[in-house]
Amino acid sequence: MSRSVRVELDWPRENTVVLGDRHFFAYDRSGAVHVIASRCAHRGGPLHLGRIENGKLRCPWHGNDFRVDRLCARGVAVVQRGDRVIAYLPAEPDSPDSPAAVNSIVLAK
Ligand code: FES
Repeated sequence: MSRSVRVELDWPRENTVVLGDRHFFAYDRSGAVHVIASRCAHRGGPLHLGRIENGKLRCPWHGNDFRVDRLCARGVAVVQRGDRVIAYLPAEPDSPDSPAAVNSIVLAK
C-alpha cells in the first residue's frame, strides 16, 4: 500500500504545495477543487504556470496542451469542506515524511 502525505490548504488563499522536489496546485473546476501534480507529461514543465483556454491547459515550456478534465481526473485524493481543502499527496517510496510547504502564488489563467 502506498503512503500519502496529508496537507491542508486554506483555499483559495493557499493554492500550491511543494513536497520535496514536486509541486502540486489546486484548481477549481465547477466548484470542486482538484489538486494536480504540476509536472508536464512532455518534459516536466510547470503546469501551474500554464494558461487555460477552451478547457485545455497549455504548458508554458513548449506549448503542448492537456484537457483540464483529464488532469483533474488524475488529481490526488481531496476532501473539501468550505474553504478547507485536505489533499493526500503520494509520498515517494524511499523518502521520509518530509513536511509539505503550502504556498500562495499567483497562478496564470
Ligand atoms: S514540458 Fe510541457 S510541453 Fe514540453
